Amino acid sequence: MVTSPKSPKSPQSPKGEAAAPAPVSAPLSVEAQNAAGILPASHWTEQALPEEGPSNDGASTLGSFMSTTASLASSIYQYRTVQGRTYHGELGNAESWEPNDPRHVEALDLLHHALMLQTDGKLYLAPLEKKKVQKVLDIATGSGLWSIDFADEFPNTEVIGTDVTPIQPSWVPPNVQFELEDCNQEWTWAANTFDFINMRFMNGIVTDWYALFRNAYRVCKPGGWVESSGTSGRFFSHDGTLKEGSAIDQWGIVFREGGKKLGRTFTVYEEDLQRKGMEAAGFVDIQFRDIEVPLGVWHPDKKAAERGLWWKMAVEADIEGYINYFWNAALGWTPEEAKVFARYVKKEWNDPNIHGYFILRVAWGRRPE
Ligand SMILES: C[S@@+](CC[C@H](N)C(=O)[O-])C[C@H]1O[C@@H](n2cnc3c(N)ncnc32)[C@H](O)[C@@H]1O
Repeated sequence: MVTSPKSPKSPQSPKGEAAAPAPVSAPLSVEAQNAAGILPASHWTEQALPEEGPSNDGASTLGSFMSTTASLASSIYQYRTVQGRTYHGELGNAESWEPNDPRHVEALDLLHHALMLQTDGKLYLAPLEKKKVQKVLDIATGSGLWSIDFADEFPNTEVIGTDVTPIQPSWVPPNVQFELEDCNQEWTWAANTFDFINMRFMNGIVTDWYALFRNAYRVCKPGGWVESSGTSGRFFSHDGTLKEGSAIDQWGIVFREGGKKLGRTFTVYEEDLQRKGMEAAGFVDIQFRDIEVPLGVWHPDKKAAERGLWWKMAVEADIEGYINYFWNAALGWTPEEAKVFARYVKKEWNDPNIHGYFILRVAWGRRPE
């Protein structure tokens, strides 16, 4: 049984030195997979394949509504190909596990909307003084929608979105620009440059969360704010309906083990990294909001079910894309095996009897004057 989370432990003092990146080179040994509780591919492939049934859109709870998501084209550069999907080119020591092809970019657009719903439509929770916000940085911007929406809301503010891959649209408000930057390297902007630094959903890409917040502190203006949204690397249920050995439970384990192997953790919430990193860097007035994000539309509360629906849509838009990298690199599975596993994840995510959720933590802190 996978039960509710315990509060994260209190922070340890940081060691200071950057964690050495450990790129995935060979899959985890069978012994390591067994020790982590990872079921072999045959566990899924030897069962009857679940029907590719209709996605549960919670029409009974929510009524129906249309997706407003636009499809964005991605640029073609020197991308790496892993098992038929493309990934970013060489940049610093970046090792992103998310594809950068149009299908995944659409999923990232949906993720933006899903994230917005979790915070009641707010782009940020930090108490920004609107008139004072001149320059804003959005690290690992993905498909760039947060930067674009922020620029629309703050037309006199200069917004810079960064990523390791140029998947952002080119038709953007005049006050937005996108740059290629590896967030794990020393940041290139001058000290005291930004009024607000946004870092959303960076699970599995950061080699050293303390260094990340040290960089943010340096480039943040005194009095400016940093905000970070990150999730638990585990899925839970209050009532034991999310079982050990389920596909969703396995999905969590493989991300956690893959993240360990890559030297880029997924357990951002469990390790309390946002608070520890901000505190160690010198940010003050640190606050956070922990949000339970339902897996699917099972929640009796309409608003929570809608939050779950959008998250499910963002995942379903490219389940294979989320699975492709780690299931191959960490476990050595073929794309066909990963696809069968994806079918089970989708089935469980649509099962109203599985009351799963994960934690999204939004944390914010201020650089002292
Ligand atoms: C889940 S997406 C982020 C989504 C976006 N922040 C949002 O909230 O909508 C993660 C992004 O991190 C980017 N990324 C991966 N490694 C990175 C690195 N080392 N530096 C900067 N961006 C990175 C990926 O290319 C991907 O676009």
